Amino acid sequence: MDVYEAIYTTRAMRRMKPDPIPEELLPKLFDAAIRGPNSGNTQLFRFITVTDPEMKQTIQKIYRACLDELNSTKYAGAQEQVKSGDPDSPEVQQTIKIDKSAQWLANHLHEAPMLIVVFGKEGGETTTFPCLWNLCLAARAEGLGTAITTLLKLDKQKVEDLLGMPRDDVWNMHALVPIGYPTGKWGVPNRKPAEQAVFTESWGQPVNWQVPKPLWP
Ligand SMILES: Cc1cc2nc3c(=O)[nH]c(=O)nc-3n(C[C@H](O)[C@H](O)[C@H](O)COP(=O)(O)O)c2cc1C
Repeated sequence: MDVYEAIYTTRAMRRMKPDPIPEELLPKLFDAAIRGPNSGNTQLFRFITVTDPEMKQTIQKIYRACLDELNSTKYAGAQEQVKSGDPDSPEVQQTIKIDKSAQWLANHLHEAPMLIVVFGKEGGETTTFPCLWNLCLAARAEGLGTAITTLLKLDKQKVEDLLGMPRDDVWNMHALVPIGYPTGKWGVPNRKPAEQAVFTESWGQPVNWQVPKPLWP
């Protein structure tokens, strides 16, 4: 697959078929993952692949509780928008769309054929995330969808205990990624145009180019 196609179409895929990940793909995905840039080549990343139905179900229940907690605190404003926002407002429509997708994942997380739990050092996401993104891109090239999630960090001790991690303060859970064949279609994610995110030479100085629509395909 062309590298730009992989970049443009790798997005949060939360709805997945239960079909298992072919065993022979796992070395390919993780070998691609560990090639990622990481601080000082210290390679401080670890992954646990979880396919056991009971374990996935237990993790789903914790994830569900974490989302409920977030929705009643940090995301209370967004929840208000979902319940009583102007349905004609594009901003409200976007919030409703993300909420629907996030709620679906919280209710169906265990149905993904595999959950990949990602670990690194405290504050070491700058090392784990480039590698994790390599994994997502490699998965995309194999027709597999992924969705990076960090919600479980709200109750990470529970998940770490569940997965048998030693309590030695070395490793921390950084993310959980369901992976599987998507039920929907691949698409280019909706973003504000690139020129709104880029300055030239100094802060606030606009660039002299524009990208009115995605440059791929
Ligand atoms: C660091 C990080 C944490 C995220 N955590 C969650 C999460 O806990 N739950 C979830 O449903 N999506 C999570 N996401 C996915 C984002 O919501 C998603 O990337 C964003 O809505 C854009 O989606 P799109 O690429 O499909 O347009 C996370 C993404 C990142 C990069």
